[in-house]
Amino acid sequence: MDAQYIAPATPAGRFYDPFEDDGPAPEFTAEPQHAQEAQPAQAPEFAGERDYSRERTPSADTRNRRPRETRQAEVFTIFAPCPQGLEEALTAEMQALGYEDAKAGRAGCSFTADWAGVQRANLYSRLATRILVQVAHAEISHEDDILELARDTPWERWFGAEQTLRVDTSAIKSPVQSLQYCNLRAKDGICDRLRELEGERPSIDTVRPDARVHLFLTGHTATLYLDTSGESLFKRGWRLDKGEAPLRENLAAGMLALAGWDPAAPLLDPFCGSGTILIEAAWIALGVPPGISRPFGFERLRDHDAYRWRDLKEDARSRILPQLDAPLVGYDLDPQAIEFAQNNAERAWLTADSIRFEVGDARQITAPADHGWIVTNPPYGERMLTEQDADLWRDWATCLKHNFAGWQLHVITSDLTLPNQMRLKPKRRVPLFNGALDCRLFGFELVAAGYRDA
Ligand SMILES: C[S@@+](CC[C@H](N)C(=O)[O-])C[C@H]1O[C@@H](n2cnc3c(N)ncnc32)[C@H](O)[C@@H]1O
Repeated sequence: MDAQYIAPATPAGRFYDPFEDDGPAPEFTAEPQHAQEAQPAQAPEFAGERDYSRERTPSADTRNRRPRETRQAEVFTIFAPCPQGLEEALTAEMQALGYEDAKAGRAGCSFTADWAGVQRANLYSRLATRILVQVAHAEISHEDDILELARDTPWERWFGAEQTLRVDTSAIKSPVQSLQYCNLRAKDGICDRLRELEGERPSIDTVRPDARVHLFLTGHTATLYLDTSGESLFKRGWRLDKGEAPLRENLAAGMLALAGWDPAAPLLDPFCGSGTILIEAAWIALGVPPGISRPFGFERLRDHDAYRWRDLKEDARSRILPQLDAPLVGYDLDPQAIEFAQNNAERAWLTADSIRFEVGDARQITAPADHGWIVTNPPYGERMLTEQDADLWRDWATCLKHNFAGWQLHVITSDLTLPNQMRLKPKRRVPLFNGALDCRLFGFELVAAGYRDA
């Protein structure tokens, strides 16, 4: 099993998330009960500080005398990675969720929280890709220091031989020769410690591990994180039908946040594909927590308090609104994409009248209201090569100028010539990564007058 270890390459300057493509979407566990009344969201309560960071290796078997529930009172340092370009939006989201010390970092945000706060971040964050709890951090001068660091970290609090394990490593500007070797050092340190303490070590499962550890190297430091999310958080659980080049759900939610979409206002996606942007929008407007029914990694760790977790989710469910106020509308030229979008919406427990998905050409649509937002992910990159498509932007822009005065338009694309081709001047251009594709979210205000070819 250990032979399967492959440390991922790290694209320069990015927090690489090796767990992103980690298998099929998790299954929903149960249908949430939609409540009749909305209540304001509650900020998490933070407990007092306690330093747990560097326990020395105990000498005896501690499996049967592990202290239960000390983690409830502890404050953890968290790093939440996100798609590059969403750092500020994620930080604002975390602050709005009550994590007041949230600070934007490289491709993510850091903050502190108690264990309930860790669970709540997993449940409520629409923009984070995962929630990583820092369990060790040290300066290192050699790869073998990683073994020591891993050996000195009290993993037995979180998992043991009864769990399977996966370790991944990524680095930014690290002088180490081999990430793969560093990864093995971390894994060996964890396994050595557990074997020494408990007589057995966890076996490795790179596909569906119970426990995931992430080693992150920068310059001369090493940080070990316990991954509390399991599958990436953008896997909400409703997507089975993918369509052509679907957006990740957290990128879709991030586009809506950057666009400043008002959840009470109409929203249109004229290139809706499998419906990601609109389904995310519906969940935002209804207050459905993005993780409400998917499983999380922390549920498979030692001492998981299933009762507390159930209470937290029930509280979240009780705040979901019964219906949407404003129209959400999606068009796609491809009937199969519309079928996928409808199926996905159904799996997200949205009633058929929540989002109007229709087969239609973006160049011939009319506005469902006199103002609103268009947030969209049209074809680009390799999918945008035919000559016929070259006219698409000009014709689409003509339609928008005629029918959508008063609307705000936000388009993600890797084609930096798009505003020119549409003959529209962007008010904003936000750099944003769609997977590995370097994109911009262009923001335009559509007004009736003043366009050369309106
Ligand atoms: C990048 S995909 C959108 C993916 C979508 N955001 C999702 O998450 O599934 C672009 C979509 O635009 C659609 N499309 C291409 N030309 C179109 C047109 N003229 N009008 C409407 N849809 C069009 C394609 O069928 C494709 O589904």
